[in-house]
Amino acid sequence: RMSENVVVGIDGPAGSGKSSVARAAARELGFQFLDTGAAYRSLGWLVYDRGADPGIREHVLKTLEQFDYEISLESGSQRVLVNGLDVTAQIRAEHISGAASRVAVVPEVRTRVNEIFRGLIQSAEPGIVVEGRDITTVVAPDADVRILLTARPEIRAERRASDVGEDADAIAKRIRDRDDRDMGNSDFMEPADGVHLVDSSDLSFNQTVQAVVNLVHGRTPR
Ligand code: DC
Repeated sequence: RMSENVVVGIDGPAGSGKSSVARAAARELGFQFLDTGAAYRSLGWLVYDRGADPGIREHVLKTLEQFDYEISLESGSQRVLVNGLDVTAQIRAEHISGAASRVAVVPEVRTRVNEIFRGLIQSAEPGIVVEGRDITTVVAPDADVRILLTARPEIRAERRASDVGEDADAIAKRIRDRDDRDMGNSDFMEPADGVHLVDSSDLSFNQTVQAVVNLVHGRTPR
């Protein structure tokens, strides 16, 4: 990479808590924070907004042509605009998760959003924590620190359930479905070469954040 900024890539499955962990680690490090799933969620939101079907490739491609995505990066929060409209809150709705994982299997979608991510990563000072599914393998394989954040499936379902106030069994099923679909994009359950594995199953939130921060402080200089 040409730029001098520090790039930290964190991948992990649905419900691994990577988003809140990555955000907190970014804040502690004084880095910017990029949640890449928000782009897939935003496109999924727009597909629904158009009355289209995220499971139909042609609908997704058509919507992609009308998808103007803007994101503002701070360590604390990330604001997301689709065609000028602030959808930061809307894209967190549970029904958007399914739409996001459906549009995410379309290769043209991934190519397009990856360009956006790479531009943001390159200009982030003094560093950036980027979280998603394919950051350590595809988006930023040359990141300074690459982490795979996992947790046992039942723990992930429990955490999600307490977040959204829903039944853990129903959530567990949706997480399994989403894992299966997401797995087609990148095998994010197995750490690639040089990727640090952090299993948060038996760690508190703060311990998990600290594990990430320690890896960043202990990184080998490029
Ligand atoms: O992390 P999340 O739940 O906000 O992600 C929403 C969906 O987007 C998820 O089903 C997988 C997909 N995604 C992806 O394919 N690649 C990424 N880098 C981030 C998210």
